[in-house]
Amino acid sequence: DMSPEEVAFQDKVDADIKIEPRDWMPDGYRKTLIRQIGQHAHSEIVGQLPEGNWIARAPTLERKMILLAKVQDEAGHGLYLYSAAETLGVTRDELTEALLSGKMKYSSIFNYPTLNWADIGAVGWLVDGAAIMNQVPLQRTSYGPYSRAMIRICKEESFHQRQGYDIMMKMAQGTPEQKKMAQDALNRFWYPSLMMFGPSDAESVHSAQSMAWKIKINTNDELRQKFVDQTVPQAEYLGLTVPDENLKWNEEKGGYDFSEPDWSEFFDVLKGNGPCNNDRLNARVNAWEDGQWVRDGLLAHAEKKAARKVA
Ligand code: 3HC
Repeated sequence: DMSPEEVAFQDKVDADIKIEPRDWMPDGYRKTLIRQIGQHAHSEIVGQLPEGNWIARAPTLERKMILLAKVQDEAGHGLYLYSAAETLGVTRDELTEALLSGKMKYSSIFNYPTLNWADIGAVGWLVDGAAIMNQVPLQRTSYGPYSRAMIRICKEESFHQRQGYDIMMKMAQGTPEQKKMAQDALNRFWYPSLMMFGPSDAESVHSAQSMAWKIKINTNDELRQKFVDQTVPQAEYLGLTVPDENLKWNEEKGGYDFSEPDWSEFFDVLKGNGPCNNDRLNARVNAWEDGQWVRDGLLAHAEKKAARKVA
C-alpha cells in the first residue's frame, strides 16, 4: 500500500495537476522519466545523422535550406529535452556518457541508412509522422518540464512531416525511376517506422506503470494503429503500395488490420546489430572527443570571469 506522500502524489496525477521539479515524487517516477526523456533527447541528437548526411547532396538549394532548418530544429529539440531531464537531477554529461557507452538508448529507426534522396522524403513523412503521433499525446504528460518541452516541439514537427511528404509527392509523380525510388524508400522505412512506437502492449515492460503515472497517455499499439490508419491513405494518394499484403480495412474495428513488424529484428537492432548502430555511436563519440577543446576553452573562460568578479 502507498505512503501518505505517494497517495497525495497519485491524487495530483489523477487530477491532472502537473508535477514540478521541486515536488515530491516516487523514485520510480523520477527514474523512468530520466530514462524516457533522456532517450528521447538522444533520439533527437542521433536522428540528425541520417538527414545530415544529405544536406550537402540535396537536389536543389531550396531542399538544402529546408533540410538544414529541420536538422537544426532537431538539435534544439534535443536541448529542450536534455534541459527537462536535468530538472530531475541528472547532468548533461551523465546522459551523454550513458549514450556513448551504450547504457542508454536512442530510437531504433536511426540505425537504418538513408541511401538516396527519396529516403529523406520517407524519413520526413514516416519517421517524423510517427514521432508526431507519439509526441502529440505527450504534451499532456504529468511531468511539467516534459509537457512544456513537448508543446514547443510539436509546434515545429508538422513542418518536418510536410516537407518529407512534399519530397515523396514530387518523386511519386515524377519519372518512373523517381517513383521506383519512392516505392523502395517506403518499402524500407515502413516497418522500422512501426517499431518507433515500441514493442506490442503485451511485450511493453513500462507501459502499465507509465500510464498509471500519466507519463504515457496512450499504449504503444494504440498509437501504432492511429499511425497506420492515417498513413495508408497518404500512401494511396501518392500511388505507392504499403509493403504489407495483410493490410486490409476492418469495418467493425474502424481501422486497418496490418502485419506486425518483425520483433526479432527490433530487439536485434536494440542489442546493437542494426545496419548503422556502430556508425551512429562512433559519430557521437567523435563529436564528443572533437568538441573537448571547445568545452575546455569555455570552462576556462567562465572560471577566469568568475575569478575576476571575486577580485
Ligand atoms: N527504439 C529504441 N528503444 C525502444 C524503442 C525504439 N523504437 N521502443 C521501445 N524501446 C525500448 C524502451 O526504451 C524500453 O527499454 P529501456 O527500459 O531500456 O528504456 C524497452 O524498449 C521496452 O519498451 P516499453 O514500451 O516498455 O518502453 P516505454 O514505455 O519507454 O515506451 C516509447 C517506448 C514509446 C518510445 C516511449 O519511451 C516514448 O514515448 N518515448 C518518448 C518518445 C521518443 O523517444 N521518441 C523518439 C522518436 S524519434 C524523435 O523524437 C526524433 C524525431 O524528431 C524525428
